[in-house]
This record gives sequence, structure tokens and C-alpha cells, in this order.
Amino acid sequence: MSRSPMVVRTVPALRRAVEALRGRKAATALVPTMGALHDGHVSLVRLARRRAQRVIVSIFVNPTQFAPSEDFGSYPRTWKADVAKLAAEKVDLIWHPDVKTMYPDGFATRIVPEGPATAGLEDRFRPHFFGGVATVVGKLFTQCRPDFAIFGEKDFQQLRVVAQMARDLDLGVKVIGSRTVRERDGLAMSSRNVYLSPEERRAAPELYRVMKEAARRIRAGEEIKPAVAGGAELIEQAGFKLDYLEVRHAETLTPIASIKDGPLRMLVAARLGTTRLIDNIAV
Ligand code: PAJ
Repeated sequence: MSRSPMVVRTVPALRRAVEALRGRKAATALVPTMGALHDGHVSLVRLARRRAQRVIVSIFVNPTQFAPSEDFGSYPRTWKADVAKLAAEKVDLIWHPDVKTMYPDGFATRIVPEGPATAGLEDRFRPHFFGGVATVVGKLFTQCRPDFAIFGEKDFQQLRVVAQMARDLDLGVKVIGSRTVRERDGLAMSSRNVYLSPEERRAAPELYRVMKEAARRIRAGEEIKPAVAGGAELIEQAGFKLDYLEVRHAETLTPIASIKDGPLRMLVAARLGTTRLIDNIAV
């Protein structure tokens, strides 16, 4: 049994705990999460550990990034298993505020991200999303004051939005992206995969398979447009409702016509039944 990490729930206690962690000027890394931890999250914790002597993981299901129609109420919550996983990784501190601590009565300030946050990808389907993410991540950064923060490439647009915000607002945090962890059949791990029925779960890896094939064709010289159109058709044939399949500039997320204007990233969002899956790969 590993020693359980310290769990902190209020801002004054967090400040004291972080000061103590920093006592010997140790570098700290923060891994923001909404809990329901899987091996993808654990890989971020391991990268954090390679970058810094002290690792803080936040677990907070952030209501402001969910639309009223979305799954805030039913989002999977697995607190005990989460703590056990983080204890096994020897995480130093778990920051677990409640909603009132994060958003006290009278809370009236929001961060409104632009640039990658208005690229016309996730923002087109979840217009509230990046405002909620930027605001909560901005708060997590100023609360925990980490030297590094680790985010998954799985949520590629989110990674770009957060990196841009840290730079624009001089938050003094180096944002580091970490590669996507997949199931053996290629499906990107996600806390929401538990929503998939057995039949949907069997269809789900098709997203990654189709993207890989379309990316291969583009690298082999096919034009982006037809390669993407062909991929979109295959995804719909597999039973998905496609929100988007696009190739964008990997840094700015702006639209791109040719592989010469790269580096490129292919990004997808599609629904299987009521579950929305997102994924992306380098082209
Ligand atoms: P959550 O979905 O819990 O994800 C937390 C972090 O884990 C994110 O940086 C996400 O990109 C990363 N992640 C998720 N699945 C992954 C996978 N299969 N491989 C590698 N990394 C993966 O993203 C959020 O929470 C929230 O929006 C948050 C940033 C915490 C703000 O509320």
C-alpha cells in the first residue's frame, strides 16, 4: 500500500500545502482533471513526475464547461478509485475543491479565450466550453502556482487554448502536451467511454482507424480535401453522426489547404448514439 496523497479542499489550506511543497524550491507540476481517472490521466501524472519533484493533481468536475443539455450531473465520479490510483503514483497533493469554493456566490469574472478557442472545431458544437475551461484552468493555475502543467493531446484544441492563455496572460506556467493513450484496439481512452453500449464500443475504434488511413493518404500525396471527404463517409458508414473531420495547422488550428503549409493535425468529433467522441492525430 502506498501512502495516500494529502487531499485539500479549501483555498487557504491549499496555499499552506503548496508553500510546504515548495519549501525547498522544488519545481511543481499540475495535472488538471475531472476525475474518473484512466490510464491516459495516469500517463500525464507520470510525465509531470519526470518534469518536477512535486506533483499536484486537481480533481474538479467543472460545471461552467458543461451546457445545460450536457452530462454534468451524470459525469462519472469515482473518487475512491481515483485516490488509490494517485497514491500508487505517489502524487504529493490532490486539490479537490467543491463548486462553492471554486465559484463562490457573486462570482462574476470569466476568461474569454480567442485564437485557437474560436477555430471552428469544438467551439462550433460547444460554444460555452472553452470559456469554462479557460476560466477554471486560469483559477487552477493561480491557486496552485505550478511551474509546469500537463495536458493531453487527446483534447488537442483545449491544449492549444490553455497554452495560448498561459502565454497571453503571463501566467508563468509552462504548458506541456502529452500523447494520447489508447485502448489496444486504438480507441482513445476517455472517461466518457463507459457510456458506450457493447455494440457502440465495437464500432468506436473506427474513428482512429479511418483517421490513420486518411493521414497516410495525405502523406502519400493525395489532396487534403478528397482524403478528408472519403474519411468522413467511412465514419458515417460505421454508424457515427459526424460533427467534423478536419485537417488544420497543428499550432494555430487555422484551416490549411496543402501539406506544404504544415505541420498538420487531423481532428475529429462524432457521436455514437448519445455519446460524443473526439480524437486527433498528427498527419
Ligand atoms: P479530463 O477530461 O478529466 O481530462 C484531464 C486531462 O487528461 C486533459 O488534459 C486530457 O486531455 C487528458 N486526457 C484525457 N484522455 C486522455 C488520453 N486518452 N490520453 C492522454 N491524455 C488524456 O480535460 C479536462 O478534464 C477538463 O477540461 C479540465 C482541463 C480538467 C478543465 O476542467
